[in-house]
Amino acid sequence: MQRLVSAEGVFCNAIYDSYPQTNDGATILEQMDVDNQIAKLMVELSRSQDYEIGDGTTGVVVLAGALLEQAERLLEHGIHPIRVAEGYEMASRIAVEHLVHVAQKFDFDETNIEPLVQTCMTTLSSKIVNRCKRSLAEIAVKAVLAVADLERKDVNLDLIKVEGKVGGKLEDTELIYGIVVDKDMSHPQMPKQIENAKIAILTCPFEPPKPKTKHKVDIDTVEKFQTLRQQEQKYFDDMVQKCKDIGATLVICQWGFDDEANHLLMHRNLPAVRWVGGVELELIAIATGGRIVPRFQELTPEKLGKAGLVREKSFGTTKDRMLYIERCANSRAVTIFIRGGNKMMIEETKRSLHDALCVARNLIHNNSIVYGGGSAEISCSIAVEAAADRYPGVEQYAIRAFADALDSIPMALAENSGLQPIETLSAVKSQQIKENNPWCGIDCNDVGTNDMREQNVFETLIGKQQQVLLATQVVKMILKIDDVISPLDY
Ligand SMILES: Nc1ncnc2c1ncn2[C@@H]1O[C@H](COP(=O)(O)OP(=O)(O)OP(=O)(O)O)[C@@H](O)[C@H]1O
Ligand SMILES: [Mg+2]
Repeated sequence: MQRLVSAEGVFCNAIYDSYPQTNDGATILEQMDVDNQIAKLMVELSRSQDYEIGDGTTGVVVLAGALLEQAERLLEHGIHPIRVAEGYEMASRIAVEHLVHVAQKFDFDETNIEPLVQTCMTTLSSKIVNRCKRSLAEIAVKAVLAVADLERKDVNLDLIKVEGKVGGKLEDTELIYGIVVDKDMSHPQMPKQIENAKIAILTCPFEPPKPKTKHKVDIDTVEKFQTLRQQEQKYFDDMVQKCKDIGATLVICQWGFDDEANHLLMHRNLPAVRWVGGVELELIAIATGGRIVPRFQELTPEKLGKAGLVREKSFGTTKDRMLYIERCANSRAVTIFIRGGNKMMIEETKRSLHDALCVARNLIHNNSIVYGGGSAEISCSIAVEAAADRYPGVEQYAIRAFADALDSIPMALAENSGLQPIETLSAVKSQQIKENNPWCGIDCNDVGTNDMREQNVFETLIGKQQQVLLATQVVKMILKIDDVISPLDY
């Protein structure tokens, strides 16, 4: 058991040694090279929280660690692991039910997105990018609402593409109702803006067929060379003509074409983009309602994608250019385009936005929120502690231990904000009991009030419930393990 409990300590050291660029729990654990079997379970735990909810991946591991620590104490007192597991199970049910009592419904609609923005802001406030939390939260909420089906309460996050490019400021991050591709027009003299574009999306070569290396072409006179060249040119000319005939005004290809073909395209006034990746092609096809054409002969007018505006945007004085495909036929695909000083900042913003997007999605599924800053955990801890007295059996010790473990979250918050953990916690706890106010939490930013309602610190109800449930499940599973034997011991 000792070995199991020390797993949490292992995490903390490794977190600060090797990965100082992020404070996203799931990412840190994911990138750690852990040997300890229990540590591996913790990685899984945080991964499942990330998968189900998206946020709260640190909290779930802290809670599980605290539950293990408390369990160790009980085992030392001679309580059987199964009794502890049963007590934890009862306590988790009490806590999850209590969360519903302290939760509030947050009404929002497309004109009133403020509640969603506020909840996303809480998620972002614990991240490195919290300087821009307001604008990033607004972007996340607008992106989710653009792809959400509010009637079915369904959000397909795959339709939100998050792109980043080094340069500019974090404040320049923008939401584009369409797609951004890290490519430019193949020729600098091609038009930079195309309205009502009809797009041919090709995965076949868009150039004359090249002679295979296995074959030999004997060209011994100038005339022969000219004939070959003219034939090649005619072949390509026919291809361009075919595109024009079916009404395409832009060609996007997965393959490249040579400079000569490029020159010809420019002359024939058919803008083209080359070397576009498969994933991007698929997104473009979904957004513009077009079809990917794998064989040139199959190109027909119905397969063209449609977009209200395709434009090339250049950034600053650099040669960086991006292609914006906006007002698409299927307008539901959106892109969040992140700008930032360096790669680390962009990667961290991507992760933070992922959390915010998930929170907005969760609120659309279920619009209940609980208050953050440890207030929900303290309130649950009080409720679980009170319930323990009602159980006559040995389980009451485990239930009480569960209440103590819940306190570890507000204590961690207080400690990380430079406050005295025990003193702050006891003050807040007694305030909650005295005022019967479950919204009192840790005043991390020294705002001057403990009331998390006034501080607008919200978290989703389902996220918090999931934290309690997942942490309990994992700890119960660990308690049922007698010993860990590695195959090398044999
Ligand atoms: N302004 C604030 N005042 C007090 N507490 C806050 C504030 N903002 C966030 N918190 C609290 O911080 C905790 C969240 O911290 P953090 O985002 O680092 O971890 P997580 O959500 O558990 O994991 P992750 O975000 O890494 O997936 C929550 O308990 C939340 O209530
Ligand atoms: Mg968080």
